Amino acid sequence: MPIQFRSGECIPLEMHKVRMVQRLNLLPVEERVRASQETGNNTFLLKNRDVFLDMLTDSGVNAMSQEQYAAMLNADDSYAGSETFYRLEGAIREVFGDVHFLPAHQGRACENIISQTFVKPGQTAIMNYHFTTTRAHIMRNGGKVIEIVREEGLKVKSDLPFKGDLDIEVLRSEIKAIGAENIAFLRIEAGTNLIGGQPVSMANMREAVKIAKDAGVLTVFDASLLSDNLYFIKVREKEFAGKTVNEITRELGSLFDITYFSARKLGCARGGGIFTPRRDLYDAMLALVPLYEGFITYGGMSVREMEALAVGLRESMDMNVIEQTPLFVDALARELISARIPVVTPASGLGCHVDAMEFCEHLPRDQYRAGALAIGMYIASGVRGMERGTMSEDRNADGSDRIAAMELLRLAVPKRVFTLSQIKYVADRLTWLHENRNLIGGLRFTFEPKILRFFFGKLEPVSDWPQKLAEKFRKDFGDSL
Ligand code: F0G
Repeated sequence: MPIQFRSGECIPLEMHKVRMVQRLNLLPVEERVRASQETGNNTFLLKNRDVFLDMLTDSGVNAMSQEQYAAMLNADDSYAGSETFYRLEGAIREVFGDVHFLPAHQGRACENIISQTFVKPGQTAIMNYHFTTTRAHIMRNGGKVIEIVREEGLKVKSDLPFKGDLDIEVLRSEIKAIGAENIAFLRIEAGTNLIGGQPVSMANMREAVKIAKDAGVLTVFDASLLSDNLYFIKVREKEFAGKTVNEITRELGSLFDITYFSARKLGCARGGGIFTPRRDLYDAMLALVPLYEGFITYGGMSVREMEALAVGLRESMDMNVIEQTPLFVDALARELISARIPVVTPASGLGCHVDAMEFCEHLPRDQYRAGALAIGMYIASGVRGMERGTMSEDRNADGSDRIAAMELLRLAVPKRVFTLSQIKYVADRLTWLHENRNLIGGLRFTFEPKILRFFFGKLEPVSDWPQKLAEKFRKDFGDSL
């Protein structure tokens, strides 16, 4: 909750207390150089024991409430007909309205089922922006993806409150040009991940869905990052200031033909699910759940996680719960902006996104500016962020790099995990790195998988810049970690 201090400064005061803790390790800078080199200079491959603050993602690592833990003990283990499933289904209906629910083990599993069912070879999926696994599933099924986020969504600095909004005119013209029969679906992603976790307005979703429905195009909603998006609808969209979070959520639940989510994010548990108000669409997807996930009363999830999810979804209807992350991200972004560090604005909910294009403008694009910044940040701080740029794109058919629209270092802020002093540490070390940015050098692949190369790819520095960066750190910080 934003609370004003005597100085006038607004602080995102935590409306929870920590009753269980996990020890952290902060390695000396030389050890951080060793760890990054040993793991191929890819932050995905670092071991947690070598990481101080894990800001790789908020996926599956959000703090759970005591009510969620308590519910886990009350789970009903069974293959078919488990009470736990009916409790989860009840929570989904309470939160989203009258829908049919299919469980799946995580978000990308939902994407597999939806893509296999609704994408025919040659068809196009229109979306505000892709997510890595989403596009991979659509393409595996012979589909194409086009992105129609408003032009301003791809600008690093902006004051547009809903940068995830679709360009409505482009939507109209694309549907006309492609033809409804050649469109698999319109997909809208809440809290648009790869452009900096930017929200989509309700007004834009209503309009886009109406156009698609009038044209006979199926509509799909990726609600993985919904809780942040709900917060922004409530505080940035006038119409909703007086509505409860649950009222907003119920409108969304009935707006789209199909909604899916990663419960590693939404609901602070681990798992996922698909729901639809339409029985025919439920029936069309049903058979794939037992084939890929598990029986329809667990879908690959543990019953304990399902219980935690049911509670977590209900808790996500509480403004005190969903505002904590956006407020922390905002606090971090403000510190960075005051140190003249280029970050994506407005601040979003998922994390703080540093613009590596500008931060590392001295590096050639094919040396992966955002990947290099991620390694520079790890060496400077032990903080593990994630590259979201050209490294996260697979190559074009001719072998050239597909240059990403944005080169970002994402510093995710998992929900209710870090303290404000840890957030201040991140800002401090990133500011030091920015002052010494010319020491950051490029990276090149030494091992490069064909699909989703950012997960397992290994890279090497183009020079001994990591050692030079560590030497400068020692000089400036002495014995401090
Ligand atoms: N859709 C969005 C918008 C996501 O952010 C993610 C995952 C998925 C789908 C896939 O869900 O991981 O449960 O299979 N995003 C994670 C991240 C991985 O780090 O941003 P999943």
